[in-house]
Amino acid sequence: MASVPLPPTEPGRCKRLKAASSQAHDDVDQRVMAARPFATRERYGHFLQVQHRFHGSLLALYRDEQLNLLLPGLAQLSRFAAIEHDLDALGLPVPAPPRQVCASPAQALGWLYCSEGSNLGAAFLLKHAQRLGLDTDLGARHLAPPPQGRALPWRQFVARLDGLSLNAQEEAEVVAGAIAAFGSYQAHLRAVFA
Ligand code: HEM
Repeated sequence: MASVPLPPTEPGRCKRLKAASSQAHDDVDQRVMAARPFATRERYGHFLQVQHRFHGSLLALYRDEQLNLLLPGLAQLSRFAAIEHDLDALGLPVPAPPRQVCASPAQALGWLYCSEGSNLGAAFLLKHAQRLGLDTDLGARHLAPPPQGRALPWRQFVARLDGLSLNAQEEAEVVAGAIAAFGSYQAHLRAVFA
C-alpha cells in the first residue's frame, strides 16, 4: 500500500519570525560587538543607555492589558527596572523613560519577540560584562538569567506566541513588528555610540 504523503507542516510562528529576522539579528549582533561595549566600563555605560532606550520604549507594551491576556505574565518579563538598577549601581544618571513605541497589537507581538529573544544572547553578553568586574549585583543585573534559567521562560513565551491564532494581515504585522524592533535597536546603537 502506497503511503499517503503528509501535507507539509508549517513551521511555528517563532521559527518563521526567526527566519524572517535572522539577517536583522546578525546585523545588530555585529554592530553591538563593533561598538566594543565591553572594552571599558565607560563604553558599557553607553551600552546600558542603548538597553535603556530600547527596553524603556517597550514598557507600555509589557504593561498592556490586552497583550497580557494573550501572553500571561508578560508584565513580569520586562527587564527595564533591572536596567535602571544597573545604571544606578554604576553611579550613572538614570534617564527619563523614553517615548513609547506605537504599534498595533500584532506588531507589538513582533517587538516583544525581539525583546524576549534578546535574553538568549544575554548569556554571552554577561560573560563579557563579568570580565569588566561587573556582575548581576553590579551593573549587569539585566543580563542575569531568570531564577528558572533562560530556556524555560523562552520556551513558554514561544509556545504562547505560536499558539495565538492570527489572520494573514496580523501575521504580516508580527513580522513587520520584529523587523522594526531590530531596526530601532540599530538606531539606538548608532545614536548612543556615535
Ligand atoms: C552581541 C550581541 C548579540 C549576540 C552575541 C546574540 C546572540 C544570540 C544567540 C546566541 C541567540 C540564540 C540563537 C539560537 O539559539 O538559535 C540569540 C537569539 C536571539 N537574539 Fe540575539 N544576540 C545579540 C544581540 C541581540 C539583540 C540586541 C537583540 C534584540 C534587540 C537580539 C534578539 C534575539 C532574538 C529575537 C533571538 C531569538 C531567535 C529565535 O530563536 O527565535 N539579540 N542571540
